[in-house]
Amino acid sequence: MARKITANLYMTLDGYGEFPKYPGWDYVSEEPDEFWNELWISQYDSVDTIIFGRGSFEGHEEVHSISKRKPTDPYYMFDYSRFLEKCQKIVISHSLKKVEWANSRIVEGDLTELIRNIRNEPGKDIIVEGGPSLVHEFIQRGLIDEYRILVMPVIIGKGHNYWGTMANQQTLKLISAKTMKYGELCLRFECVHDFNASK
Ligand SMILES: NC(=O)c1ccc[n+]([C@@H]2O[C@H](COP(=O)([O-])OP(=O)(O)OC[C@H]3O[C@@H](n4cnc5c(N)ncnc54)[C@H](OP(=O)(O)O)[C@@H]3O)[C@@H](O)[C@H]2O)c1
Repeated sequence: MARKITANLYMTLDGYGEFPKYPGWDYVSEEPDEFWNELWISQYDSVDTIIFGRGSFEGHEEVHSISKRKPTDPYYMFDYSRFLEKCQKIVISHSLKKVEWANSRIVEGDLTELIRNIRNEPGKDIIVEGGPSLVHEFIQRGLIDEYRILVMPVIIGKGHNYWGTMANQQTLKLISAKTMKYGELCLRFECVHDFNASK
């Protein structure tokens, strides 16, 4: 079976991939919360590849590579950094010339073709981690099998939006919906790829 692609989305209620302030936005728990478990920990065993846009890759390397962890960080952030280090990290970029983060590579070209090739490489499942404009391109092209979404209780009205115009409807099946301490929603959907075809 081809490798599954899960998109991890962090968004405001109006779909922007921004990180706004709201009551509880900066709360750091000693233990991972539901959102962290759904988007990351529960996928550590099944995923070995992460796809990033250029900005998202550079941001993650700067903040989450193991050398950037601080002793005061909770243990599960060290686990996250170790997971990122060992994953294959694929950066989709037409401008980057080289990458230094271990197990990283740059790819460019037609997105649908690139993803078809990556899916056919041997390996475990795949997470596409953003940013929002790259994930939007995946959504438009129907390249995603599952969504794991943190919805923050904010309407921000500006920034990079995950959603947008689509040529075709995408039909989803809700897997779970959980509420969190500060009013965030943690949603999980599976794509029903053949819904229209089967009618
Ligand atoms: N909410 C989140 O999870 C999240 C995550 C990451 C970023 N952000 C925020 O979003 C902002 C920027 O994010 P972004 O959406 O521009 O993401 P990004 O991670 O910078 O991805 C966009 C870059 O990916 C490359 N790319 C290659 N093919 C692409 C395609 N078909 N469509 C789009 N990009 C393609 C391009 O790099 P080249 O120019 O090198 O070709 C493009 O500049 C940042 O300000 C950040 O704060 C939010």
